[in-house]
Amino acid sequence: MNILVVHGPNLNLLGKREPNIYGTVTLDEINGRLTSLAEELGTEVSCVQSNHEGELVQMIQNAMGAYQALVINPGAYTHTSVAIRDAIASTGILAVEVHLSNIYRREEFRQHSFISGVAAGQITGFGIDSYLLGLRAAVQAVRSAAGQ
Ligand code: DQA
Repeated sequence: MNILVVHGPNLNLLGKREPNIYGTVTLDEINGRLTSLAEELGTEVSCVQSNHEGELVQMIQNAMGAYQALVINPGAYTHTSVAIRDAIASTGILAVEVHLSNIYRREEFRQHSFISGVAAGQITGFGIDSYLLGLRAAVQAVRSAAGQ
């Protein structure tokens, strides 16, 4: 099984970016933890990041056939991007939406997600654990769909 982890805009700055909200963990550390967990779960994981909406759309389209599921933190595009939502819906790929912060405890504009309506589920507010729980959920969902 192959899972693609997609990090959206500004997540490359984790560690330096608003540490009071996002903590001090870096993106490399998150990817390292995901890779270790993937090994433990007996699956493969690839991690990608982009600050560009079109590139994220392309990455999701390219995942078709190559990956069984996405774990995606769309960053600010969560709240704005119909294109990313449509990419997930169009490919039909199973997606787990994750956020480091709890978007429902923050500014009103963050409390709507364009992605959640096409995601298998959403995990929000647990810092790095949102990603780790998201990976576990994605692996479990793919296995269940395959009747394992
Ligand atoms: C975020 C929440 C978004 O509102 C914000 O724009 C981000 C990060 C999170 O992981 O908590 O960039 O997706």
